[in-house]
Amino acid sequence: MMPDLELMGDQLGLAGKTILVVGGGAGIGERTALRLAAAGCNICVVDVAEDRAAAVAEQLLKLGVKAASVLGDVTDPETVGGVVDEAWEAIGPLDGCVTIVGMSHQAPLLDMPLDMWTLDFNLNVRHVFLLFQAVAKRMVEAGRPGALACVTSVSGRQAAPNHAAYGAAKAGLAQLVKSMAIEWAPYDIRVNAVGPGTIITPRLPDTPQRIEEVRQSGIPMRRRGTADEIAKCLLFMMSDLASYVTGHNLMADGGWMAANLKNRPGWRGP
Ligand SMILES: NC(=O)c1ccc[n+]([C@@H]2O[C@H](COP(=O)([O-])OP(=O)(O)OC[C@H]3O[C@@H](n4cnc5c(N)ncnc54)[C@H](O)[C@@H]3O)[C@@H](O)[C@H]2O)c1
Repeated sequence: MMPDLELMGDQLGLAGKTILVVGGGAGIGERTALRLAAAGCNICVVDVAEDRAAAVAEQLLKLGVKAASVLGDVTDPETVGGVVDEAWEAIGPLDGCVTIVGMSHQAPLLDMPLDMWTLDFNLNVRHVFLLFQAVAKRMVEAGRPGALACVTSVSGRQAAPNHAAYGAAKAGLAQLVKSMAIEWAPYDIRVNAVGPGTIITPRLPDTPQRIEEVRQSGIPMRRRGTADEIAKCLLFMMSDLASYVTGHNLMADGGWMAANLKNRPGWRGP
């Protein structure tokens, strides 16, 4: 076991569980796949980047679990069901699914083109509807309980200039999670979200400017979070520690939502 991945293995109740990790090829998704595998889960990594998904699956195999990778675009309604079937086939009947897919495209509202609005809704909320519906249907048909988790954002709670589509989509996602939670609770399927603040990832690495912005912002913890800190929250949501938690949107933001910030990091003005 890699020592930095060890976390109460037996109390998590995850050993032998089969989990689909979508967007698992990089950043928060990669770290989530590693955390789940370290807790004993068999993992199928789905990503649009086939080489990265395969490289993560290789790392997971070294942790002694079953692992596979599948190429798939979960925003495409034509293919999402097939991706879930392929994963089910590759590692066995699913006990859970985590998707971390999401991204923001920025423009002032007065100039925002419709295709940018549509892209952010497809990436950040519609894909979760398509994916979790496909997974939950198969769980219900198979009579299997399950846990599902996705990633929202502080931007779904507080507005920022140029983030209108992303913020509205993430706010919608938090509400979708509640609806899924209440409709699927009778089938013993829990649905939760984790809402990051500003997180260091390969796409958004720490730079002197970002470090300084966060110091100046008033975020109480005065630093950006790590991909692993979000992965640990997702691990919690998938585990038995969260057995009575559903419909929740856990903010992992260094205290951002608790504070009245002086300046939002990355604030560029409208
Ligand atoms: N990084 C931050 O500061 C931050 C802050 C708040 C919220 N978030 C949210 O966290 C989540 C992950 O962010 P990240 O920065 O780690 O992302 P990332 O871009 O680093 O990783 C996303 C992964 O998903 C894959 N992917 C993208 N589109 C896909 C698709 N259609 N189908 C399958 N795979 C796809 C990518 O290839 C990549 O491997 C997102 O939902 C984002 O909105 C991030």
